Amino acid sequence: MNGAASVWFLFCLFIVIHHVICYQAWKKCGNVHITISADIHSYLELNWITDCQNENDVYPQYIDLYSRNIIDRDESTIPLVRVNASAFPGGYFKTKIKFRIPWLPGSWDYNVPFSRPEPGSHCFPYWIASIKREEVLDSKCFGIHPTWMNDNRATLGKKKIGTLILPGTHNSGSFSGIPPLFENYVLNQDRNIWTQLVYGVRYLDFRVGYYENEGYFINHDLVRVTKVLPLFREIRKFLEFAPKEIVILDFHRFPYPSNFNYTLHKNFANLVYQELGDLALAPESLQEGKGPAMNEIWARNKNLIICYSDRTTVSENNWLWDPLVQYWGNRKKVSELKNFLQRSIKERRITLNPLWALMAELTPQTLDLVFRTNNLRQLADDVNKHVTKWVRDEWSDEVNIVATDYFLGNDLINIAIDVNTR
Ligand SMILES: *[C@@H]1O[C@H](CO)[C@@H](O)[C@H](O)[C@H]1NC(C)=O
Ligand SMILES: *[C@@H]1O[C@H](CO)[C@@H](O)[C@H](O)[C@H]1NC(C)=O
Repeated sequence: MNGAASVWFLFCLFIVIHHVICYQAWKKCGNVHITISADIHSYLELNWITDCQNENDVYPQYIDLYSRNIIDRDESTIPLVRVNASAFPGGYFKTKIKFRIPWLPGSWDYNVPFSRPEPGSHCFPYWIASIKREEVLDSKCFGIHPTWMNDNRATLGKKKIGTLILPGTHNSGSFSGIPPLFENYVLNQDRNIWTQLVYGVRYLDFRVGYYENEGYFINHDLVRVTKVLPLFREIRKFLEFAPKEIVILDFHRFPYPSNFNYTLHKNFANLVYQELGDLALAPESLQEGKGPAMNEIWARNKNLIICYSDRTTVSENNWLWDPLVQYWGNRKKVSELKNFLQRSIKERRITLNPLWALMAELTPQTLDLVFRTNNLRQLADDVNKHVTKWVRDEWSDEVNIVATDYFLGNDLINIAIDVNTR
């Protein structure tokens, strides 16, 4: 090998090693994150990565929960919770601390009347840390990421939207308005649309019903949940404060009435246009390949990609994107759902719309409704931890939108930010 070649060889070797080390840093043994349980109390849950097979891996001794950043800690900082990590080999511990539905930090609460929210991520007073002897291996707060796209515009700008991981919610509008007796089988979320967006969700899945004299509603199949107009106003208000965030609205199904006819579609599209049309990014030539780069979208000063499942309506409204494919398994068991999603990733069909969604939630079956077993909250708690691992450890290069129930139970927002910006 001559001199230039060996320099080149060493350079390449350095790049490869550097790549291997840096590539994996965000899913390292002992890394921690907080999630929120889907039950009615919204308990704080501690999670840590237990896959510790590399030579330099250090398995944590303790997993602690603090009320402030432990970088600033002194002798007197006592954890709210301390867990012996080896006693929980699954890397998961549910605390008895209720998170509930607190005010959003950084003046992002919907009800803060006069102040302008501050861009950037903000922490709730909950910090998780993994500890070995006195050393902190990893620590992170539980927080909101209302402007994560704009915060990372330098690294995201050249990336096409179809290549990003986008955290989403399933049946996004189904979060309240149901009598308690049925709630657990109808509601898929426990935070409103505004709050979902403020946490960092960027894909909203809507099913729409029409009721004579009352107008358009969000439906869960045949059950009417809530009026659509207030949700549109929450979306508009969020985008006023976060003008560089790109949000995908998917009007995915129109379950009621069963013959949701041409006129009903036409009137609904007009209503959406009247409320949000000025924010809509027209598909024009943007639907090719993996879709537009983030810079191209930002250059047009539009925030909303509005997808619509009825082709006739799309053909008559040049601001609507083609139907978006959702891979929905209708499964009740975690292992079956994983097989279904794995297969969907492999056999994915290419469509006009460059965006596509994995629906990573379990579905109760008819007998569950009869016997009141496996409600949506329980099923979300069963699957959300797995969804975190599947996307983080196996599918991070392959997925686009991933939509879940009770989305605070998984770590998809952090994973999306980490993976999209690496
Ligand atoms: C932590 O748990 C492991 C496994 O259950 C046990 O062997 C060990 O003694 C525990 N350590 C402490 C400090 O309690
Ligand atoms: C469409 O459905 C609505 C509501 O059911 C009904 O009032 C209307 O007459 C229907 N229009 C057509 C053209 O069938």
